[in-house]
Amino acid sequence: MAFDQRFLDELAARSDIVDVVGSYVSLQQRGSDYWGCCPFHSERTPSFHVRSDQQMYYCFGCKKGGGVVNFVMEIENLSYPDAIHFLAKRAGMQVPEDTRDDGSARLRSRLLALNRDAAHFYYDQLHSSRGEAVMEYMRSRKITQRNATNFGLGAASSEWDGLITAMLQKGYTQAELITAGLAVKGKTGGLYDKFRNRLIFPIVDVRGDVLGFGGRIIDKNDPGAKYMNTPETVVYSKRRVLYGLNLARKSKRQGILLVEGNIDVVMLHQAGFDNACASMGTALTQEQLHLLSRYTKDIILCYDNDEAGKAATQKALTLLRDTDFNVRVLELPKRLVDGQYVKQDADDFIKFQGADAFENLLSGSGSGMDFRMSQLQEQFDLTTDRGRIDFAAAAAELLAGIPNAVEREVYTVRAAEAAGIPAEAFRQEVQRFSTRKARKERREQERRDLRPAAAAQPRERSMRYDNMRSALAEEGVLRLLALDDTLFGAEPPLTEAEFSSPLLWRLFDALWQQRQSGAIRVSALDGLFGSDELGHLTGILQKPESTDHAARQKALRDYLDIIRTEARKRSAAAEDPLTAAMRKVHRNKEDRDGGTM
Ligand code: UTP
Ligand code: MN
Repeated sequence: MAFDQRFLDELAARSDIVDVVGSYVSLQQRGSDYWGCCPFHSERTPSFHVRSDQQMYYCFGCKKGGGVVNFVMEIENLSYPDAIHFLAKRAGMQVPEDTRDDGSARLRSRLLALNRDAAHFYYDQLHSSRGEAVMEYMRSRKITQRNATNFGLGAASSEWDGLITAMLQKGYTQAELITAGLAVKGKTGGLYDKFRNRLIFPIVDVRGDVLGFGGRIIDKNDPGAKYMNTPETVVYSKRRVLYGLNLARKSKRQGILLVEGNIDVVMLHQAGFDNACASMGTALTQEQLHLLSRYTKDIILCYDNDEAGKAATQKALTLLRDTDFNVRVLELPKRLVDGQYVKQDADDFIKFQGADAFENLLSGSGSGMDFRMSQLQEQFDLTTDRGRIDFAAAAAELLAGIPNAVEREVYTVRAAEAAGIPAEAFRQEVQRFSTRKARKERREQERRDLRPAAAAQPRERSMRYDNMRSALAEEGVLRLLALDDTLFGAEPPLTEAEFSSPLLWRLFDALWQQRQSGAIRVSALDGLFGSDELGHLTGILQKPESTDHAARQKALRDYLDIIRTEARKRSAAAEDPLTAAMRKVHRNKEDRDGGTM
């Protein structure tokens, strides 16, 4: 690992997990433990657990967990080294000069430098003769020079390797260009620019780093996809960015305006709505909400007014339902063209109706529930009895989901009016749904409790257990090792082959090595394992284990017995060629199934 161990120990000592987590999550103390609502998934009843003694956190709901460094990585969206720097700054410590910088940090900074240089290259192209066609397109979209510069817009010309040549000259390698998603290998092995003949939108994060690019075709007849984006790279993950947030976060306007497209963002800023940003055509994610929560409590959804946009709005509202955001929905009207209503996005609306009209829509935008109710009303014919009865049932189900009683009452009365049904009758219907919903949730919980084996299976497919009996015992060994390593002798009690789960072996091995070099500290595994893996380990450690030393010794013997017995069965089966062949077929099939999921 890249950082000095003494420094990491000191950092850990000065970064108490209760303090760090407590600055993001409101925690309630119960005994030596703390509970709160999980910041990583939407919930109202706390299932997020922080243990002061182990310096670990774990969410029983979404199964995320780990130490303080992992927590900062997750919540601040940082790499491991960046999280270390973040905590060091918080603790007022100097990070010692990092001479053995690890490969991944170096690659990251190389790619960021490359992206920055590429953005400059595209920008220069736009303002040179090679960029004329793109410049012409930009004018036709009514983007001003000034705003283009504000967003760092650029041009990819029709050359096959304009960017590649320029970047190789600057000392970047072909491999780096491919890894950054800027160059693509052709069938014959030649390298060519990924973005050609496109208007280029650099995607910049809130720290000002260029993470990747979006590129729009400039010619209607271009057979390529309308937009092309940087693929997932070491620095770019589409789930974790919002286009334009780097500018929108500085806006003086209230809240953040979420739209679908890049051009929508650019045009809204130009029209004075500089709080706009876009999820770039993909569904809003939990990670993006995290990012937003640092800057605002108010979100205004302004998606396209076609079916896809409405579906995206519904989906976003579902994601936002159990969060602290105040959500409004700005509904764009359709536009009448030659007697037909056509879809509009924010860019179209501003272009045809102007900024003042948009300002009006913005101030008139209703709550998420208003949007859902009006969507629902559109689906039924409220002039017929059948339509009103069906609407009442559907609306009651929706209303039953509103946790706030006052809000529920307000919307119940409104829906009753819309359906022309007495409010009292409607209230009873809503009540019936609430009761039914609670009963259903209870039943589902009971069913989960009755299926411990399925519940014990890790969520990630790649971590799934082949042998549940052995794996649970292996978990037990891990837990005892972390709890009390005096139960163990000088030599590890198990070999790699005896473990049925490769992940549990790696975790065991890492803990054992920690023990050899001093003390076991699960929270110090943050840099060595992925988030899913750490979450799984933390989950294992939360399961109950007896506190009595003799009982623990007995438990350890039992666990080891089970593991060794299962391992013997496995090796006996391996010696029988027929069984071995059958197992192999079985496993291949599983791999295939796993691959297509
Ligand atoms: P839209 O199709 O709504 O395009 O896609 P738009 O933003 O209105 O673009 P214009 O006005 O036609 O130029 C919304 C967003 O979805 C992403 C882009 O980020 C786009 O801005 N998208 C769209 C893609 O990533 N790939 C595509 O092929 C299309
Ligand atoms: Mn558009």
